[in-house]
Amino acid sequence: MIDYEGDKDKIYSINGRGEAFADVLARRLNRRGLLKSAAAASALAVTGPRLVPAPAAAQGTPTAGAAVGKLAFAPISLDEGSELVVAEGHRATAFLRWGEPLFADAPDFDPEAQTPESQAKQFGYNCDWMGFFPLPQGSDASDHGLLVVNHEYTNPELMFPGYLSPNPEYSPPASDDAPPDVPEFLTNPTQEIVDTELEAHGLSVVEIRRDETGEWQIVRDSEYNRRLTATTPMEATGPAAGTDLLKTSADATGTRISGTLNNCAGGVTPWGTVVTGEENFQQYFANLGQLAEDDPIRVAHDRFGIEEGSSERRWEEFHDRFDLTKEPNEPFRYGWGVEFDPYDPESVPKKRTALGRAKHEGHTSFVAPGGQVAIYSGDDERFEYAYKFVTTGSYDENDRAANMDLLDEGTLYVAKFNEDGTGEWLPLVAGEGELTEANGFPTQAEVVVNARFAADAVGATKMDRPEDFETNPVTGKVYLVCTNNSRRQLEETDAANPRPQNLGGHIIEITETGDDHAATTFNWEIFILAGDPAQGSTHFAGFDTDEVSPIASPDNITFDVDGNLWISTDGLGNTLAGNDGLFVVPTEGEERGFVRQFFSSVPGAEVSGPVFTPDNTSLFASIQHPAEGSSYEEPTIRWPDGGDAPVRPSVVVIQAADATARVGTGGAV
Ligand code: FEO
Ligand code: CA
Ligand code: CA
Repeated sequence: MIDYEGDKDKIYSINGRGEAFADVLARRLNRRGLLKSAAAASALAVTGPRLVPAPAAAQGTPTAGAAVGKLAFAPISLDEGSELVVAEGHRATAFLRWGEPLFADAPDFDPEAQTPESQAKQFGYNCDWMGFFPLPQGSDASDHGLLVVNHEYTNPELMFPGYLSPNPEYSPPASDDAPPDVPEFLTNPTQEIVDTELEAHGLSVVEIRRDETGEWQIVRDSEYNRRLTATTPMEATGPAAGTDLLKTSADATGTRISGTLNNCAGGVTPWGTVVTGEENFQQYFANLGQLAEDDPIRVAHDRFGIEEGSSERRWEEFHDRFDLTKEPNEPFRYGWGVEFDPYDPESVPKKRTALGRAKHEGHTSFVAPGGQVAIYSGDDERFEYAYKFVTTGSYDENDRAANMDLLDEGTLYVAKFNEDGTGEWLPLVAGEGELTEANGFPTQAEVVVNARFAADAVGATKMDRPEDFETNPVTGKVYLVCTNNSRRQLEETDAANPRPQNLGGHIIEITETGDDHAATTFNWEIFILAGDPAQGSTHFAGFDTDEVSPIASPDNITFDVDGNLWISTDGLGNTLAGNDGLFVVPTEGEERGFVRQFFSSVPGAEVSGPVFTPDNTSLFASIQHPAEGSSYEEPTIRWPDGGDAPVRPSVVVIQAADATARVGTGGAV
């Protein structure tokens, strides 16, 4: 989503104050990191980075003398065009489009006649995070599996003819800087449109198979295919389940919830389930201003930014549950990590309240040496926190059923980053420290429902929009992606958020003490300060900033089998002249910090949810909200179909020219 305020030249001059910003950076960066970076830089001065691969490697085939696993493609440049661009030797294909029929009896996509019933059987809108689940279950197949896809939100102005109409009272403002008195367009939601939007949210589970020519195909009559939407029955479990806070007039049990909303980033558990994060759920609710000002429910909802009056979507006009004057508790039923089993189409998704309530991203997990499972999650809002949940029970790799409710018992922690490069995981436990009844936390239910207030109370570190938060499967190090924060003032900077008006975003690298992901302490350093390298406020693990691809607003991350970090961006164009894209950076060795751009998307879109097949021969990525900012009648682009078709958010699959070669590196695993 767009998050840009102000003039970037001005912001860089505030940042920079000439040479002074370098001093700020040097002071704020972890000293060990700088020393290590200096050593790497001097090694490179001798050997030099491999800027351009051998030609054969760029074609996606192994090169004599080039170790498999080294990145082997020439970086592309920033691009603002209307077509996908991918590194030479690769191809990117739009694969799963909004409206794609997923069942044998699903109707074909018809943009002029979408209904709730048709949308419930088709691929949803605004694809985001993805997980690849091999078939058969338990295998490491890379040519057959289930693709699980989040559908974060809807853009009704791009989905439905006539949703926007000109406002007769509008007149252009006197200057470009002045906001208009009234909006230029009016919105026209109807019951049919709103109910179709509800079915376009949620997730899709889609069986896919790579054919003998290397092309991926959808298995339309698969028994696994499933849509989860904003109306699918779900269950609340854990400390908040069944408490008064979660009860509504439709659900006296406080456990039966209708659907999931704003599913952004997610994760896969070691036992092969999905944990999808509910992010900006506040946007669906209305009329906060009609609750009493001292009502604790109002205070709780205000922290998430629910509208005082009507919501922009106006769903409250069609469904009481979105109107706080009728159902003040309904927002407490969103903002959770939701777990379900993609291999069981009958499984009831469970909102795991023990993991805390936030604008969740992530939920990636790692098994600690003691067998406990650590789950990491960001809370994507300016000045919010980074969380870790550690299960009480241990993962049993030989008994899948025994793992299925592990996420209901454990300890929720929030991160505190110290100036000296150490850090602490502060427990959020009712009755401990500041989390007393007198402070508003009589039971763990209040702690998890109001995890943000609990994190305030224990003194956690306020971050620059923490989004994805993932563990490198090769090294065990954990990476926290802070996408940006235009509002941080100089006096609000700290070691872990060192940049005022942080438009470029940054990535923090965490090493858990003793490489134990259940540890309560860690060390950290800043891995990347993104932005225009020419502007002088960037840092790439000490790598020469002249050599790297410009990158800004990192959002989602994933890792290849060598532990290289793949980064998708959201909002790069607010800082640099380019569409959002995919970038890759080694995390270890002589090329640590050497960012290369691999892929460029289309205007208006963010790139999200990158995921590899186990053998790295296919890389899936979501092209979310293409043409955002325009309308159904006049879209800025009509990607991917062209002609008269509406623009359609779609999953792309990226493969090497030789479909059996690895993406980005060539060779075979
Ligand atoms: Fe849905 Fe924070 O991106
Ligand atoms: Ca995201
Ligand atoms: Ca985002």
